[in-house]
Amino acid sequence: MRIFSPLALSSLVILTNAAAIDDCLKAASVPVDAKGSSDWNSDVAPFNNRVPFTPAAIAVPTTVAHVQAAVSCAVKTGLKVSPKGGGHSYASFGIGGEDGHLMIELDRMYAVTVDSTTNIATIQAGARLGHVFTALYAQGKRAISHGTCPGVGIAGHALHGGFGFSSHTHGLALDWIVGATVVLANGTVVNTSETENPDLLYALKGAGSSFGVVTSFKFNTFAAPSQVTVFNSQLGWGSASAAASGWTKIQDYAQNTMPAEMNFRLFVNSYGTNLQGLYFGSPSQLQSAIQPLMSSLGASLSQSRQTDWPGGFAAYDNGDPVDVSHPYNMHETFYSKSLATSALPAAAMTAATNYWFSTARSQSRDWYLIIDMHGGKYGAIPAVAANATSYQPRDKLFLYEFYDRVNFGSYPSNGFSFLDGWVNAFTSNLKPEQWGMYINYADPTMNRTTAQKNYWGSHLPRLQKIKAAYDPNEVIYYPQSIQPAK
Ligand SMILES: Cc1cc2nc3c(=O)[nH]c(=O)nc-3n(C[C@H](O)[C@H](O)[C@H](O)COP(=O)(O)OP(=O)(O)OC[C@H]3O[C@@H](n4cnc5c(N)ncnc54)[C@H](O)[C@@H]3O)c2cc1C
Ligand SMILES: *[C@@H]1O[C@H](CO)[C@@H](O)[C@H](O)[C@H]1NC(C)=O
Ligand SMILES: *[C@@H]1O[C@H](CO)[C@@H](O)[C@H](O)[C@H]1NC(C)=O
Ligand SMILES: *[C@@H]1O[C@H](CO)[C@@H](O)[C@H](O)[C@H]1NC(C)=O
Ligand SMILES: *[C@@H]1O[C@H](CO)[C@@H](O)[C@H](O)[C@H]1NC(C)=O
Repeated sequence: MRIFSPLALSSLVILTNAAAIDDCLKAASVPVDAKGSSDWNSDVAPFNNRVPFTPAAIAVPTTVAHVQAAVSCAVKTGLKVSPKGGGHSYASFGIGGEDGHLMIELDRMYAVTVDSTTNIATIQAGARLGHVFTALYAQGKRAISHGTCPGVGIAGHALHGGFGFSSHTHGLALDWIVGATVVLANGTVVNTSETENPDLLYALKGAGSSFGVVTSFKFNTFAAPSQVTVFNSQLGWGSASAAASGWTKIQDYAQNTMPAEMNFRLFVNSYGTNLQGLYFGSPSQLQSAIQPLMSSLGASLSQSRQTDWPGGFAAYDNGDPVDVSHPYNMHETFYSKSLATSALPAAAMTAATNYWFSTARSQSRDWYLIIDMHGGKYGAIPAVAANATSYQPRDKLFLYEFYDRVNFGSYPSNGFSFLDGWVNAFTSNLKPEQWGMYINYADPTMNRTTAQKNYWGSHLPRLQKIKAAYDPNEVIYYPQSIQPAK
């Protein structure tokens, strides 16, 4: 009989460290969630119910000094550190992606302040997108580019990309970052900007979960447009060949014609395909800009509605409350995968649409696929230099989110192969430089080597050197984090 099985030993270590970390945090006067309290339970509940983890302790800082003390306590007690922003990581990496970390719950730090002279916003790292949106608009009708879900944290979102209905016009959330204040693995606090620690800023803008705990950001902002037009079109694609032909036309348009003011995605599920967009201009300007595409598709707009900037956000927020902060309580049970590709060659288009109609449409589960118009000749994302940030899909035309959820019970063990197979239908028909993945739709089934390659591609060697300089002992760690160069 083995008394000390590896499992028993490792849980013993976690227990011992949990007691030590509790003592250290207490001695340093760092606020914490008491185990079993309602704050502990709500802070530890992952957005994705499929991947729950138990931290050794939860620090709940309200100052930068608290964050420094918490990181130092983790180092002293041999724990890994996981900053948590909005907690929306699909792999629960904000909780650690495994048991036993010191989780630093940042959502009590969510102030948003716009400097009315420079229009630069200082945003604390625990703010959620809906609050950022609301606070920027309230302070001089300012805005940044970002995604649709109000509960997503600005930190995780902007540290890895941040794509939404203004991105073809104004780029990613991370393209608006001009600086950050960061607590490093050794507990010191530094500022980064184009002139201070510029390597760190490069690393934060694409791979930001591996280099320290960001306590606040500086974002440049743009003037929110006074009017936008929300639009959509039902695409009646009833077969793989209809989808391949229609998507090829959309691809040509996105690549060569789509004006900067236009933003749209394809929303695909078992029932159909909907083109959904936001145009920075009036319905009549939209109509003339999109007519060539609609004519070639034999389609028309089913909605074209003028509204103001908040109305444009509300159109895609799922009806969720917008200005949200702690406690946050929204959850789903799902598996998701990402992909970013160049324009699809015919073989990939055929394989992907065949899988869509032969396999995906015959699934009884609640899946969807979002295909974002990410790049193209007039798009803002590819206009930024490839090596100015560590965001790897920079030059790709499409960004994809594959999402398969269950509404009751647990996710089926035979569920994974469905989405894996669909992604493989694309990648097996593409050259390595034609595709990559996006860690904001994290897939924890990939091992660390594969994940780093897929998320960061050619940026990896530089990122691993920066990791070695700032955090050689991997204090900031999760199962797919950047490994330090040897
Ligand atoms: C409902 C929903 C809708 C979404 N819509 C979009 C969309 O429209 N566009 C899009 O691009 N993405 C979208 N996403 C994905 C989202 O951008 C990512 O999941 C993002 O990483 C979540 O950030 P978070 O702070 O909420 O998550 P967390 O789980 O808190 O953090 C994610 C990662 O960032 C790290 N991190 C968090 N805070 C810090 C910090 N202060 N310093 C250093 N590292 C930190 C964490 O440790 C973790 O590794 C959506 C997600 C959901 C659940
Ligand atoms: C970082 O910048 C802020 C102003 O944004 C300043 O108050 C602070 O002293 C700076 N900290 C360091 C460590 O340089
Ligand atoms: C970016 O940097 C990498 C590594 O330094 C280099 O191999 C690559 O050619 C650069 N890419 C561009 C577009 O400059
Ligand atoms: C990681 O996964 C890839 C792809 O599945 C595989 O080829 C590789 O051997 C794996 N590496 C390790 C260290 O397990
Ligand atoms: C902390 O780490 C940074 C980055 O590696 C380094 O520049 C700094 O000297 C370190 N500070 C201390 C007190 O060790």
